[in-house]
Amino acid sequence: MASVHGSALDGSCTVVVGCQWGDEGKGKIVDVLAGDVDVIARYQGGANAGHTVHVGDQHIVLHQVPSGVLHPRKRCLLGNGVVLDVAQFFGELDDLAERGIDPGGRIGISTRAHIVFPYHKALDLAAEDAARDKIGTTGRGIGPAYEAKTGRRGLRVADLLERGSVVDKVIRGVEWARARLRELRADPDLAGTVEEALKLSHRLPAVATDVGDEIARALKEGKRVLLEGAQGTALDVDHGSYPYVTSSNTTAGAAAVGTGIGPTAIDSVVGVVKAYTTRVGNGPLPTAFDDEMDKVVRELGAEFGATTGRPRRCGWFDAVLASYSARVNGLTGIAVTKLDVLDTLPELKIATGYRIEGLVQSLFPAGVRELEGAEPVYETLPGWQTPTTGARAMSDLPANARAYLQRIEDLVETPVVMVSVGTRRSQVICRQ
Ligand code: GDP
Ligand code: IMO
Ligand code: MG
Repeated sequence: MASVHGSALDGSCTVVVGCQWGDEGKGKIVDVLAGDVDVIARYQGGANAGHTVHVGDQHIVLHQVPSGVLHPRKRCLLGNGVVLDVAQFFGELDDLAERGIDPGGRIGISTRAHIVFPYHKALDLAAEDAARDKIGTTGRGIGPAYEAKTGRRGLRVADLLERGSVVDKVIRGVEWARARLRELRADPDLAGTVEEALKLSHRLPAVATDVGDEIARALKEGKRVLLEGAQGTALDVDHGSYPYVTSSNTTAGAAAVGTGIGPTAIDSVVGVVKAYTTRVGNGPLPTAFDDEMDKVVRELGAEFGATTGRPRRCGWFDAVLASYSARVNGLTGIAVTKLDVLDTLPELKIATGYRIEGLVQSLFPAGVRELEGAEPVYETLPGWQTPTTGARAMSDLPANARAYLQRIEDLVETPVVMVSVGTRRSQVICRQ
């Protein structure tokens, strides 16, 4: 089959990374590119991710399983940087099998990946309940699981494989969680945690693997590898709108750390951006629409969280954030998604700077108060008011849509290598 990826997959090993506040359409882009690679590996995050893939009449939201899974014969891996909710993972595999997609022998999980236990979810919810400034987490236990990892209290897939000693380790985790939950004045029922943790562990030996070794061998054999990020750059624990972030490094540098390969193995980095901006959960969104426009675009773009169903806040395209993402991730190309959502708008705005305390700057600030107070400086472009959903080449797009993409390319100083114009796999333009 002829390659569909155009110039996006430059070299053997490509990272796909979100460049806004998550939900950029990474699942769709990974699904499109997966047809041309041999291995797809998630490198961080956990079941907080919701990656939507539409193929034929199937509409699937993946939380733990990599978005390449719908392509038969592709090897799908979860790297050591991922936190694994065992029940969620096997539940997803079973759901896929019921839909006639049996990823059985082609799924692998790093033995070094940390486990998310039910008590991590209880801690996540209790911490949010008790907090004055709530993050608005997904409640999937992500923060507490990564805290346990860096606090050196975590349990890994390798621990669950050592069945003899694991019970004691889980009990210690439960006890630690109980003490913390008491401080938070929460009293969830943790009875049955050990049994639940071990119930599905017998399925782990079949999937446990050394992901770094697998990827290194695949690359040596001349195969192609895609490293799939979750969340987005502005949710990165170091580079995002801290503290309103997730608890992992979401950026492209984490793809090496989170899979167990060296950074020199990575050849290209595709940054996914929506043609506008959205955010779910709390924290600043400088280019947020007014209430009326927010409602219009939320409806047009069906902007409701794929994991929690919460409405996503919507705003104009933020070139300050996108340029920052291009630098932090070392982008070699941009994939612009949901261009079609803007089809009916008479004019569009792009933020080219932030006015902070009277001064215009083009750098994404570190301080959350600065970001909260940032007033975007906009430039206005004409809309195209023509459907783009049928476009399969840049030349099929209306001139104003091409001009909009060109402006993004110029401001972000990175070539637009893919444009998505609908939810389906076929609704994409891959530039050669
Ligand atoms: P992810 O977390 O980055 O994978 O993104 P989500 O799956 O959470 O959210 C993206 C949503 O936009 C999903 O419902 C996709 O089906 C949808 N989507 C992706 N690309 C396009 C596109 O080009 N046009 C439209 N209209 N929807 C898209
Ligand atoms: P995908 O991979 C959008 C947000 C949450 C919250 C913050 C912290 O689908 O793009 P967490 O549960 O991670 O501790 O929540 O991060 N968040 C996401 N927002 N897309 C995601 O994933 C997200 N994963 C977490 O809403 O604001
Ligand atoms: Mg999502």
